[in-house]
Amino acid sequence: MTLHIDRMTEVEIGDRVHFSPFVYVGCPPLFVKGATARWKDHPNIVRIGDDTKVGSFATIYRDAFIGKNCLIGTGAIIREGVRIGDNCVIGAGVEVSYEVEIGNDVKVMSLSHVTGRSKIGDGSFVGVKVTMSNDRHINLDDYRFPDKDVRGPQIGKKVMVGSGANLVAGITIGDGALIGSGALVTKDVPAGARAMSKAAVATW
Ligand SMILES: CC(C)(COP(=O)(O)OP(=O)(O)OC[C@H]1O[C@@H](n2cnc3c(N)ncnc32)[C@H](O)[C@@H]1OP(=O)(O)O)[C@@H](O)C(=O)NCCC(=O)NCCS
Repeated sequence: MTLHIDRMTEVEIGDRVHFSPFVYVGCPPLFVKGATARWKDHPNIVRIGDDTKVGSFATIYRDAFIGKNCLIGTGAIIREGVRIGDNCVIGAGVEVSYEVEIGNDVKVMSLSHVTGRSKIGDGSFVGVKVTMSNDRHINLDDYRFPDKDVRGPQIGKKVMVGSGANLVAGITIGDGALIGSGALVTKDVPAGARAMSKAAVATW
């Protein structure tokens, strides 16, 4: 078994698209109580542009559109309603959650979590193991947030996000900003600014 395409999925796959073994295309969303994305909002269609390569064990949900010349790394998860532009790299083990918009020439490095309803502008770079959230509540069973308020970080163009940064729900990061590795970002960052958390201090 190599490529599994959900039998109900309408796929539009470009020229020279490469699938490594064990890729799942058209995975239906699985919902729990309190989940935000809605099954009915997502038609059962997947589009993948010319020259894109998809690594082993990647899972691409229904209603995901991936542009041309992208690399989707080993074990990456591309959820329903995701739009990815051209020339992007989505690293190994990255989850791009529901209804995320990613521009052109974007790189998201291994094991990062791009939360639902976030946005990453053209030419931006997200380092390894970056965490993002889209809701300031913690427990789905205690879900009180109105749907409209669930919003991941809105990241501008040519933004650099250092490895291990943590971006909380709803913040905006302006074009060309730099987020230091390990930063905990709770407020908007203006265009061109730098945001860093306190570095560890060695004591003895
Ligand atoms: C933020 C960053 C760009 C700063 O680089 P820089 O300007 O060369 O900074 P320096 O190394 O000269 O350090 C300057 C000061 O900032 C501090 N600093 C550097 N990086 C920091 C960080 N991420 N968080 C907090 N403080 C940091 C240094 O400790 C130093 O403090 P001091 O003046 O008290 O001694 C860089 O450290 C960084 O975080 N880059 C991201 C790298 C990364 O994650 N790449 C992705 C790989 S997948």
